[in-house]
Amino acid sequence: MKYGHFDETRKEYVIDRPDTPAPWANYLGSPAYGAIISNNAGGYSFEKSGANGRIIRYIFNSFDQPGRYVYLRDDDTSDFWSASWQPVGKSLDEYKSECHHGTAYTNIMADYSGIHSEVLYYVPLDKTHEVWNVTLTNKSDKTRHLSAIGFCEFTNDCNYEQDQVNLQYTLFISRTYYRDQKILQVINENVVNDSVDGNAVNKRFFGLAGSEVASYCGDKEEFLGMYHTYADPVAVINGDCGNKLNYNENSCGALQTKITLEPGESKTFSFILGMKDEAAANEIMKAYENEKTCATELQELIDYWHGKLNNFQVKTPSESFNNMINTWNSYQCFMTFIWSRAASFTYCGLRNGYGYRDTVQDIQGIIHLAPEMALEKIRFMLSAQVDNGGGLPLVKYTHNPGHEDTPDDPSYVKETGHPAYRADDALWLFPTIYKYIAESGNIGFIDEVVPFANKDEGTVYEHLKRAIDFSMNRLGDNGMPAGLHADWNDCLRLGKRGESTFVAMQLYYAMTVIKYFAELKDDADYIDYINEIQYKMGSTIQEKCWEDDRYIRGYKEGGMVIGSKNDPEASMWLNPQSWAVISGLATREQSELALESVHRELNTPYGVRLMFPPYKEHAFDGALMLLFNAGTKENAGIFSQPQGWIILAEALMGHGNRAFEYFDESSPASMNDKAEVRKLEPYCHGQFTESVGSPYEGRSHVHWLTGTASTCMVGCVEGIMGMRPDFYGIKIAPAVPSDWKEFDITKNYRGKKLNIHVTNPDGHESGCQSMTVNGKAMEDNYILFDELDDVNEITLVM
Ligand code: NOJ
Repeated sequence: MKYGHFDETRKEYVIDRPDTPAPWANYLGSPAYGAIISNNAGGYSFEKSGANGRIIRYIFNSFDQPGRYVYLRDDDTSDFWSASWQPVGKSLDEYKSECHHGTAYTNIMADYSGIHSEVLYYVPLDKTHEVWNVTLTNKSDKTRHLSAIGFCEFTNDCNYEQDQVNLQYTLFISRTYYRDQKILQVINENVVNDSVDGNAVNKRFFGLAGSEVASYCGDKEEFLGMYHTYADPVAVINGDCGNKLNYNENSCGALQTKITLEPGESKTFSFILGMKDEAAANEIMKAYENEKTCATELQELIDYWHGKLNNFQVKTPSESFNNMINTWNSYQCFMTFIWSRAASFTYCGLRNGYGYRDTVQDIQGIIHLAPEMALEKIRFMLSAQVDNGGGLPLVKYTHNPGHEDTPDDPSYVKETGHPAYRADDALWLFPTIYKYIAESGNIGFIDEVVPFANKDEGTVYEHLKRAIDFSMNRLGDNGMPAGLHADWNDCLRLGKRGESTFVAMQLYYAMTVIKYFAELKDDADYIDYINEIQYKMGSTIQEKCWEDDRYIRGYKEGGMVIGSKNDPEASMWLNPQSWAVISGLATREQSELALESVHRELNTPYGVRLMFPPYKEHAFDGALMLLFNAGTKENAGIFSQPQGWIILAEALMGHGNRAFEYFDESSPASMNDKAEVRKLEPYCHGQFTESVGSPYEGRSHVHWLTGTASTCMVGCVEGIMGMRPDFYGIKIAPAVPSDWKEFDITKNYRGKKLNIHVTNPDGHESGCQSMTVNGKAMEDNYILFDELDDVNEITLVM
C-alpha cells in the first residue's frame, strides 16, 4: 500500500493519503528554534532544547496530537473541518489532501466542500519563530462566508516533563492576554529580574497577520469545551472563540478570522508563533503584513538547503537510490547532525547532551555536502576528548572544553548517568577526520590545537595519538582492546577486561589512518611504533577471532567466546564481518567467506540482522539484548546503522550487486509501496526493523534521529558510487548492479565541479576499463586534484 510519492524535481515527498500508518514527520527550523510537524500537522516546537525550551504541547505515543491546527468553518452552514485531515478527520470520500514535506518546510493542502486550503509551515532561515501561512481559495461557484481559526496549545512550563507531571505547580503559573492581533502567554509573570528558585519569566505569542482577528481564546478548556476533543472544539462549533483568557490551568492560542470569498477568489494570511515578549512579537509580525514575505522566506530556505544538497547529486537507473541520495538521506543526515538524538516523536528531548560515538559518526553523513559544517563539529567533538584519549560518553549541551569532569569523577557519572568509558567512542574520530581532510583538502587541520575536555590541549594529530593510547593502555587478556562499559553495541557488556573484535578492528583501522598523518609529518619513529603494534594487533585478531568462515564477536571477561559458530544462539554477528573488510584486516579469501556467511545466515528481505539466532535461553551474563523480544533491536533485529557498513564492505570488495541488494532491502524509499508493512516514513531511515521471530517482520521504528542516516550515506556515496577522495585527489570506483548500463554523478570537490558519466557496456559490478578527464585519458581511475579545472567532464567506462 502506498500513501505518497517522491517529487524529485522539487525535492519533496508528497503524501496524498493522510491516514498514514504512523505520523510521518518533517523537521523545520534550526537548533535555535526547532519544530517537528507530521503530515496531519501534529507536533511541537521548542527553543534551543526539546526538553527545556518546549513551547507547544505534544503528547507522545498518543495518536499524534495536538499540533498546529487551522480549523475551517463554513459560516453559512456551520459545517467545519481542518486544513490538515486531522484533528477533525472528515470522511476521506469527501476530503482530499496532499502534504508536501520539503526541505525545512511542509505545505499541507486540502480540498473540501469547494474550498481549497494550503497551509505552508516553516521556520524562516536563522530566525526563532515559526510561520503558518494560510491561503484559502473558493473553488465553488457561490460566495462563501468562512471562518479560519488557528489553534496551538502552549505548554505551561518550558520543561516538557514538568509540564506533563508536576501539575500542582505548573497549572498555576501561566496566564494569557490578548493584545493587537495576538495572544500573549506569560509564565511566572511575577518573576521580573532574576529567576526565583530556578524559574524565570517566560513569554510566548501566537499572532495573526494579514487578516482581522474576529475573536480569540487563550484558555484551552474554554476553546475545546468540557468533554470535547480537538476534533470538535466548541469554539469551532459555535464559530466564535468567545474572547476568554486563561488565568491558571492551561493556556492556548486561538484566533478566529472571518473571510468572504467570491468564486475563484483567494485570500492569504499568516499565524505566527514564537517565544518572545510583546515588543519582539510586534516587530516580527510587522514583516508578515507584507504579502511577499512568506514567498521570499520560503525561497531562502529552498536556496539554502538545495544549495547544500546539490553539492552531490546522482542520476542512476534506481529512483529509490536517487531519491535517497539526492534529497532524503542527505536531509536526514543534516537533521541528525544538527539535532543529534534530541527531539523527535520518539525522543522527548530529555537527553542532556550529545552521545560521543553517535555525533562523531553523524558528521560523516554531511562531509561530502558541507565540509565546513563538519569541521566545526569535529573541533567540538575533539574538545570533548579527555586527555587520556577516551571520549566523554555524553557531551553535555553546556560543554565547557578544558573544564569538564570525566567518567573517572563521580560527579560526571552522577550528572550524566554514564558510569564508565566506552571502548569505541574516540576511535570513530579516525574515519571521520580522515574523510573530512580528504574531502576538503584541509591538511593543515592536523596541526590545529584543540583543548581536551578536562585539561590541557594538543594538536589534532596529538588527539588522535592519544586515542590510540587510550585503547592500547586498556588491553584485555588476549591483547585486544578491552570491552570497558560497552562497544558500539550498547547491549554488549563483555566486562571491563572482556574484548571486542569490532573495537579491535576499529583500532586496526585507526592505526592505518594515523600512519597517513604520521607520513605527512615525517614522524618516522611513530610510524615504526604503529607498524609494530598494528602487525601485532592484526595477528592477534586473526589468531583469536577468525573461525572457519566468520569472525567471532569477542571474549567475555574470563575468556568465554562470544559469537562462536557452534553457539546455540547468537552464533553469527554482522559487524565483525563488515568491519573485517572496512578495516582492511581480512585477507581477500577471508572477506569473501565472511561476507558470504552474512548473506547466508543474516540476510532477510528487509535487511541484514545484527546477529542470529536471538538470545533466549543461552544469553551470557551481560547480554542485555535479551531484554528485547526476538527479532527486535539488538536481539537479532535488523539494526539499521550496520546496513551502511555492510553496503560499504561489499562495495569495497567490488560486489556491486550485493551492495545494492543490501541498499535496496533496507532503503525506506524502496518500501514506498509497502508502507503498511514498514509503518515508518518511506523517506527516512529508522533505528531498526523487526525481523524473523516478530509477527511484524519488516516494521521499522525510531524515525529520523539515527546513526543509520550517516552510515547508509557513506555506504552509498563512498561505496556504491565509489567517491574515494584522499589527501591529493580522488579515486572514482563505483560498485553498482551489473545491469546498470550508465549513470551520472555531479560532485562539488573542493570547489571544483565534477560531472561524471559512467557507462557499463559489459555489465560489470565494478572496475574501470578507462577514464578520461576533460578529454584526456587517465592511467587509471584516480585524478590528482591539481589536474582539475573549475568544471570537469569525466567519463568512466566500467
Ligand atoms: C543506539 C545508540 O544511539 C548507538 O550509540 C548505539 O551504537 C546503538 N544503539 C547500538 O546499540
